[in-house]
Amino acid sequence: MLGVFRLSKQPNVTIAPATGRLGVLIPGMGAVSSTFIAGVEAVKKGLGEPIGSLTQLGTIRLGKRTEGRTPRIKDFVPLAPLECLSFGAWDIFEDDAYEAASRAKVLEPALLEQLKEPLSAIQPMRAVFDSDYVRRIDGPNRKKAASKMELAEALMDDIREFKARNGCTRLVMIWCGSTEVFHKPAAVHQSLAAFEEGLRKSDPEIAPSQIYAYAALKLRVPFANGAPNLTTDVPALLDLARENEVPICGKDFKTGQTYMKTLLAPGFKARMLGVRGWFSTNILGNRDGEVLEDPGSFKSKEETKLSVLEQILQPDLYPQLYKDLYHAVRINYYPPRGDAKEGWDNIDIFGWLGYPMQIKIDFLCRDSILAAPLVLDLVLFLDLAQRAKMKGIQEWLSFYFKAPMTAPGLYPEHDIFIQLMKLKNTLRWMQGEDLITHLGLEYYD
Ligand SMILES: NC(=O)c1ccc[n+]([C@@H]2O[C@H](COP(=O)([O-])OP(=O)(O)OC[C@H]3O[C@@H](n4cnc5c(N)ncnc54)[C@H](O)[C@@H]3O)[C@@H](O)[C@H]2O)c1
Repeated sequence: MLGVFRLSKQPNVTIAPATGRLGVLIPGMGAVSSTFIAGVEAVKKGLGEPIGSLTQLGTIRLGKRTEGRTPRIKDFVPLAPLECLSFGAWDIFEDDAYEAASRAKVLEPALLEQLKEPLSAIQPMRAVFDSDYVRRIDGPNRKKAASKMELAEALMDDIREFKARNGCTRLVMIWCGSTEVFHKPAAVHQSLAAFEEGLRKSDPEIAPSQIYAYAALKLRVPFANGAPNLTTDVPALLDLARENEVPICGKDFKTGQTYMKTLLAPGFKARMLGVRGWFSTNILGNRDGEVLEDPGSFKSKEETKLSVLEQILQPDLYPQLYKDLYHAVRINYYPPRGDAKEGWDNIDIFGWLGYPMQIKIDFLCRDSILAAPLVLDLVLFLDLAQRAKMKGIQEWLSFYFKAPMTAPGLYPEHDIFIQLMKLKNTLRWMQGEDLITHLGLEYYD
């Protein structure tokens, strides 16, 4: 009759109330962030529903099935209401949020027209940008300073000024900027002292996204990374997050093709079906696609996209099913499609006695429509985590990412159903509710 696992020591956390305004600071005012901001404004005006958002639509079962307690997540934990969000962004282009959304062509002009007033008020601040890290685009709205440390200080000034101007009590930063080129942690990333020295000396190994993250963490602003860049995945910034008691999470929003992969792969493994090959290819024509044409940025994306199958399928445990799996991912820039990406997957699987079968997926998706609700959830959950005094990497938010950050030495969990269970159990744990394991003990009564 149970299905409920009772911990002997039930942890509890005190969560400060979500009073006052929450400022959402976004490096990158492109397709994803403008679709997110416009969407929140549309929902506030009753012009649309927040489809795809767990915080707005999701429920959570509490206690035994017989208790019939299934509140909405937003009624179970104290989340900031949409009416209390203020938005700020940085970009190398001068377009305000209305112009950025119009240029991105994700949302209908008629809808954007109704949102023109709040969107036009959001002017991007001057960006910290380095064309060695994002190569295919350039724009005039950039900060100039004598060193990377001065750039970080200028960002901190922006953050303080934004907070005061908008009367915010709390802030969250989420990277929605272009994908930076692939790079590995260097000596300058190994400690906070080395990183700060590197900022003063403008060490070329420090990426713009790391300067934003440093500025946020110094001011105790939670930070999420929506792109596959290295950013906070280095000892210096992990230490700073823990030292300043700031929650962080990343990286790379799990939206289209990888979302499909993490739905299907656990299913194949659950039934002990083999996979011989998985070929994934995409065409997309937005600015993100243009940046990903650069081999350095594509390499960052490829790494996060490829890591998923290996962890889910566990070829070491199941060599006869997955040992020699051939996995390839391609992305091609194809301007006519704009943000309406098409992702094809050809999956060669095999069953009983090794007999082969094939599955073809053709996902005609909309990248930013899939990403916008993830941005909203991450902002609200990170703010919740900070009010609950949770610091460092928030693994319970792995649900949202292609390459979830984990504590050093741990492998990331990619199975979306395990990720969702972990997320909901964390919320139950925060509120002192029993964790649910779906274990049925009725057979023993
Ligand atoms: N849409 C999705 O489904 C999805 C999924 C996973 C990850 N992402 C990632 O999210 C990010 C945003 O995607 P998008 O479609 O909005 O891209 P986009 O190109 O429309 O927007 C990115 C914006 O960032 C700006 N930018 C680049 N470097 C900057 C810097 N240093 N400071 C400030 N602004 C900077 C660019 O000028 C651009 O306007 C990309 O890195 C993308 O790979 C998107």
